[in-house]
Amino acid sequence: MIKICGTGSALPARTVTNDDLSKIMDTSDEWISSRTGIRARHLAVEETTTGMSVAAAKQALEESGLQAEKLDLIIAATLSPDHVLPTLACEVQAAIGATHAVAFDLHAACSGFLFSLNTAAAYMQSGIYKNALIIGAETLSKMMDWNDRGTCVLFGDGAGAAVLCNLTDDGTDGGLKSFVQYSDGARGGVLACGNRPVNHPFANHEAENQYVTMDGQAVYKFAVSTVPKIVTEAVEKAHLTLDDIDHFVLHQANQRIIESVAKRLKQPMEKFPMNLQGCGNISAASVPILLDSLNKNGMIKTNERIVLAGFGAGLTWGAAVIQW
Ligand code: ACO
Repeated sequence: MIKICGTGSALPARTVTNDDLSKIMDTSDEWISSRTGIRARHLAVEETTTGMSVAAAKQALEESGLQAEKLDLIIAATLSPDHVLPTLACEVQAAIGATHAVAFDLHAACSGFLFSLNTAAAYMQSGIYKNALIIGAETLSKMMDWNDRGTCVLFGDGAGAAVLCNLTDDGTDGGLKSFVQYSDGARGGVLACGNRPVNHPFANHEAENQYVTMDGQAVYKFAVSTVPKIVTEAVEKAHLTLDDIDHFVLHQANQRIIESVAKRLKQPMEKFPMNLQGCGNISAASVPILLDSLNKNGMIKTNERIVLAGFGAGLTWGAAVIQW
């Protein structure tokens, strides 16, 4: 049985409100909050993707009781690492002293934490590894075109982590019950970010836009149509009904998306915790940061059932059912 036995998170100290943004661009708290629910976000000043990941990882390890050198696997989900090389996961490995872990990054944008959970679980279920540290971490502020008010107002920075343990012998019920995940590269253009062009003595290609661009309405339609389906599928795969679920921890992209999903699933909004009001959309970090705050604030009780769901660029989307 694969269980989350520790969580952690870290956010930059600097909070930037919608009103702060309205002083530097043509926007307003009314426009942003009425369309998204977002009122503020944390933006990195001195913080880094690696630094926040290490802080979150240390908290998760402490709660789990597992020593870093006993870790078998570290998977870090990010689209905004500090460096191309070495990977975020390897930087975390070095910082926490997880000398025996294999470490690599996984890039599935806003679904990254879900895909990392599922990947780690597959390794653990096959018996290759006994435990894992999974991280979702972003410094999205550096990926934004701050002249594009349609996208930069939506995103924030932060990191979340979870330690997964294989508790096959502890005699309790619970843990990871099911997961589903999907991708559709053919629709990838609706949420994009270019990279460095080929530029060497034998070729010189024009640079792509190196900032995030988004067709907001297409992303909205994608999210409200796919998330209810994967949530339902993951719940059925776990031999449960939607009414059996206590908390739906969805990727924190937009309050209207979450409200629409709740309505389509015919579930009350109280089951859909949110932190997007103060954090914005933190891509791969949004689900683990929210999970950690629920855990730390005693909002999840033993044996409660939780759906985790992520969706985003790629396109990618995935959901998992866990019993706490
Ligand atoms: N402040 C004020 N006006 C703005 C802003 C802003 N920050 N941004 C855009 N506008 C203007 C536009 O210029 C446009 O003006 P115009 O009519 O004069 O041309 C007007 O507001 C409407 O713009 P739309 O883009 O059509 O606004 P829409 O109502 O679709 O809302 C939003 C945009 C909030 C992005 C919406 O499409 C949405 O919620 N999409 C979901 C996408 C999402 O959540 N993405 C997150 C990242 S993806 C992920 O994590 C999965």
